[in-house]
Amino acid sequence: MTGENAFKLGLFGANADGGLAATTVPERWAARWPDIAEVARIADEAGLDFFLPIARWKGFGGTTNARGHSFETLTLAAALAAVTRRMAIFATVHAPFVHPVFAAKALATIDHVANGRSGLNIVCGWNEPEFALFGIPPVEQPYSLGREWYDVLAGILTGQGTFDHDGSHFRLRDVEGRPLALQRPRPLVMSAAFSPAGRDFAARTSDILLTTFVELDDARRTIADVTARAQAVGRSLDVYTACHVVCRQSQAEAEDYYDRFAVREVDKEAVERHMAMKRATSGSHDPAAYRLHAKRFAAGAGTYPLVGTPATIAGRIVAMRQAGFAGTALSFVDYLGELPFFVDEVLPLLREAGVRP
Ligand SMILES: Cc1cc2nc3c(=O)[nH]c(=O)nc-3n(C[C@H](O)[C@H](O)[C@H](O)COP(=O)(O)O)c2cc1C
Repeated sequence: MTGENAFKLGLFGANADGGLAATTVPERWAARWPDIAEVARIADEAGLDFFLPIARWKGFGGTTNARGHSFETLTLAAALAAVTRRMAIFATVHAPFVHPVFAAKALATIDHVANGRSGLNIVCGWNEPEFALFGIPPVEQPYSLGREWYDVLAGILTGQGTFDHDGSHFRLRDVEGRPLALQRPRPLVMSAAFSPAGRDFAARTSDILLTTFVELDDARRTIADVTARAQAVGRSLDVYTACHVVCRQSQAEAEDYYDRFAVREVDKEAVERHMAMKRATSGSHDPAAYRLHAKRFAAGAGTYPLVGTPATIAGRIVAMRQAGFAGTALSFVDYLGELPFFVDEVLPLLREAGVRP
């Protein structure tokens, strides 16, 4: 993540069944450990920059119960750290469900296994059945909890010495944790959000904000807004986004497959439930996205489509870079079946375009 690539690329969601898609096609991602390990190794050897899991505790119903099977991300990161060599390995952690003292020690452990490649993606929770699963009510001010959670974690990882924390969400005595992470001052921190409050949280805590967009014009406004919020508190951060990929030799082939898995063979009930829950309790997307782009939710949980030939997709990535994004996380229907073609065909074009020397 500190290397020379001007635009970072990573895998997103490969720890969950279906990845980010809600589809019934037989090749839908089963998220088996040997396949996840293999796709991570391929990405690592190809020079991709990071592996980012989603944090999910319940599926979305329908015929597939999309994302009902998902590996826990701290333990998965420790395992992936041992089978990769270069890329950053993120864990996506729910601040309301995982204690920050535990998270700090887990992250330090991963950082040692990974020789300094661990990353943390903080999510503050939006999914009501998941709160019920943990037996706690949805947090009214998730980012106030998130700030305290981050302060405790960062206090431990930066080695500030034994401290007390007296907040409204945590009251902790003689807080400490060893070992420290190898990365200084602490491992890379990302947070995922779209709302103004989520942007402010990222501005104060994170190195990277992972966010969504509908079209590049609104992305430019989002990036300017996030940048201004960070500057206002004397910090800077990179803005990444997330995309679902269908890359084929011809545009028609790519679009036909997109239509097949996200429309003709969609898990309609799962997508509708996901969208209804998101609309009700999460500000992770521009409200227009639900009305305009149901297909994007079926194909990639509301992320941006990269659908077409290697040249079309490389062109879109260059445009994203020009709009001000510093990276994107990518999902596929069948990560293992599709990533090698992306690596062989799209990465050389990005190299030629100078975004990934
Ligand atoms: C690109 C992206 C990825 C996200 N990934 C997760 C995730 O893996 N697990 C989760 O519970 N929430 C995830 N979220 C939800 C956010 O962490 C947050 O709860 C949601 O966006 C609502 O907050 P907001 O209104 O501040 O955006 C993600 C959000 C975005 C934009």
